[in-house]
Amino acid sequence: MTEKNGIEVEGLVREYKKGPRAVDGIDISVAPGEIYGFLGPNGAGKSTTVHVLTTLLPPTAGTARVGGYDVIKDGPKVRGLIGVALQEAALDPLLTGRDHLRLQATLQGVRKNQRHSRAEELLHRVGLADAADRKVSGYSGGMKRRLDLALALVHSPRILFLDEPTTGLDPQSRTALWEEVALLRREDRVTVFLTTQYLEEADVLADRVGIIDQGKIVAEGTPAELKAEIGRPSVHAIPHREEDRPRIAEFLAQFGEPLASSRDVAVRLRDGLVLTDIVRAVDQNGIDVADLELRAPTLDDVFLAKTGRTLEGAAEEAETEQPAMRPA
Ligand SMILES: Nc1ncnc2c1ncn2[C@@H]1O[C@H](COP(=O)(O)OP(=O)(O)OP(=O)(O)O)[C@@H](O)[C@H]1O
Ligand SMILES: [Mg+2]
Repeated sequence: MTEKNGIEVEGLVREYKKGPRAVDGIDISVAPGEIYGFLGPNGAGKSTTVHVLTTLLPPTAGTARVGGYDVIKDGPKVRGLIGVALQEAALDPLLTGRDHLRLQATLQGVRKNQRHSRAEELLHRVGLADAADRKVSGYSGGMKRRLDLALALVHSPRILFLDEPTTGLDPQSRTALWEEVALLRREDRVTVFLTTQYLEEADVLADRVGIIDQGKIVAEGTPAELKAEIGRPSVHAIPHREEDRPRIAEFLAQFGEPLASSRDVAVRLRDGLVLTDIVRAVDQNGIDVADLELRAPTLDDVFLAKTGRTLEGAAEEAETEQPAMRPA
């Protein structure tokens, strides 16, 4: 039995008729009041998972319970509990922000005498009070995203699904949205299922992170746990001259495994080594570097360790793979 306001997913599969097995047997458990970050490159299966959990798509196999209700058998109950902001916000360019909120409040069955105050409260909350009477066609990408979040919140959902809420936003709008999501959890104990391609977002915002790649969960845990799994830090050397790269790479290779990096020359340190060992060796051997830097593991390192690719590289690969879908 799912805890109220939690999410329980077992063996979930979703295969598109003329497409790939977008979600390939995943298990997820999100506790009430938790922010779960679903991290993965383009085409990993994030949106498909969100669509199944929000009852927009039936699963091919497996079960999913949201707030204690089965997404197939209890669709209307699930829909009553959740708020959803999809990756492609469906806004009407000819309506104003306030129009959208009133309409949504009516659709969601907010009582007539409360619609006005709820709309005003949310407009303030997402910082759109001044723009409320402007048509959405004149909104920036960040304003549309914030309006979409407000619309998802109209009926005070206990569980919130946000599909890439900050993709394409500038750093300020992104931080503002993070604060809003953190506040919803802190003050209203809303459970949040959030997908993202940004490591930093998952790191800052999520209590727990699931990393999905090609329909499978390749790692799961708190950001700190995942990074600790990698354990060893990396050392990055910035060459003075481009032509020194090969020599620096060869020299550093004695201290750990080389890491793919276009900007600098990097290795994942072998156990027991510290930065001063490297600095000393670099000095003694007259290796010419502009800078040497020690870095703690990031979630990208976790992704690299689990899949053999970097998150960025994986996204590019997925794009070139698109035309070569398996026949159904
Ligand atoms: N309606 C569809 N019909 C066929 N295949 C689809 C459909 N929607 C998605 N796919 C495929 O399913 C896979 C997963 O897609 P999905 O949209 O779930 O990925 P995503 O992780 O949300 O990616 P992004 O970060 O680009 O939004 C991709 O290979 C995609 O091409
Ligand atoms: Mg998506």
